[in-house]
Amino acid sequence: MTLTFPLRAGAVATGESDRAAILANPGFGKHFTDHMAVARWTVAEGWHDARIEPYGPLQIDPAAAVLHYAQEVFEGLKAYRHEDGSVWTFRPEANGERLQHSAQRLALPPLPVEDFLTSLRALVAADQAWVPAYGTGETSLYLRPFMYASEAFLGVRPSHEVTYAVIASPAGAYFSRGVTPVNLWVSTQYARAGAGGTGAAKCGGNYASSLAGQLEGIQNHCDQAVFLDSATHEYIEELGGMNLFLVYRDGRIVTPELTGSILPGVTRRSILELAAEMGLTPQERRIAIQEWKDGAASGEITEIFACGTAAVITPVGELRWEGGSCDHRPAGAGDEMGEVTARLRSMLLDIQYGRVEDTRGWMTRLV
Ligand code: COI
Repeated sequence: MTLTFPLRAGAVATGESDRAAILANPGFGKHFTDHMAVARWTVAEGWHDARIEPYGPLQIDPAAAVLHYAQEVFEGLKAYRHEDGSVWTFRPEANGERLQHSAQRLALPPLPVEDFLTSLRALVAADQAWVPAYGTGETSLYLRPFMYASEAFLGVRPSHEVTYAVIASPAGAYFSRGVTPVNLWVSTQYARAGAGGTGAAKCGGNYASSLAGQLEGIQNHCDQAVFLDSATHEYIEELGGMNLFLVYRDGRIVTPELTGSILPGVTRRSILELAAEMGLTPQERRIAIQEWKDGAASGEITEIFACGTAAVITPVGELRWEGGSCDHRPAGAGDEMGEVTARLRSMLLDIQYGRVEDTRGWMTRLV
């Protein structure tokens, strides 16, 4: 049976001037809208009790399995205001399908993609005033669907009760500095994920396991850490919250192949398709960290960028590691992003904000 998410009254709407002040400078992940979508799953009843209710703290039993065994998955996508006032989102079926794969890996019940889409539509319809106006820079309403084991039980087995929810947060640039190059630390002490693990699932545990590496990066004056494969520590995987692309002088644009321990990003996948249309040669293959260092030294690698829903496309600056560093950018290049990075970035944003025709059927109208 398909779910509907009826609106429950009772939300205290944020005042118009307070909302306008937030939308004028939303930052990332700091402010939340007036409602949230919630549904429950039990072994006996399946998915049920779906609704849009006032945003607020969730009741959670201290014995809930998620708090002890991290049985949880999530998604991230954005709602964009178009010039005519309509609100759209980008490839939501891909997120719905990935949520199903992530849920399967974490032994959570799959939510039908149709119900996933209904939950987004219902929440954005209730909180449409929170979608930033067209033409206000790279602002959007970030949607965060998530699902967790809510059964109060301390035995280690898949939870018999699960909660699904979607919250929404007006968003500007992911990094507080805006779109400037991020410096990366090569984490050799920590891996984000390993063979047979949960690296390809979007689960909170992967992000938790990336934090010690990120901290190590910050201690070494970097913004983020780049994680290598856990078996050999030779091959690039991802940043923890973003995929990576290397651009070569000869027109190749290369990203680590999906080995099972890398998140299959929706932005990653879209860039591979757009790059081919731009006449570049996209490749998915293993990339040794040594290839990065050598390519930066020889000038063969001309641009490097990270990508994800939240950060869109973010240029990478220096790479640093224990005892060394390299920079693929020519000396004195400053913070300008490379030409390929900039073209891909505007192609993607033009599609998302409806500034060009959506010839690929990537956009779905929400409101
Ligand atoms: C996203 O890009 O949507 C992510 O999920 C990355 C991060 C904010 C967790």
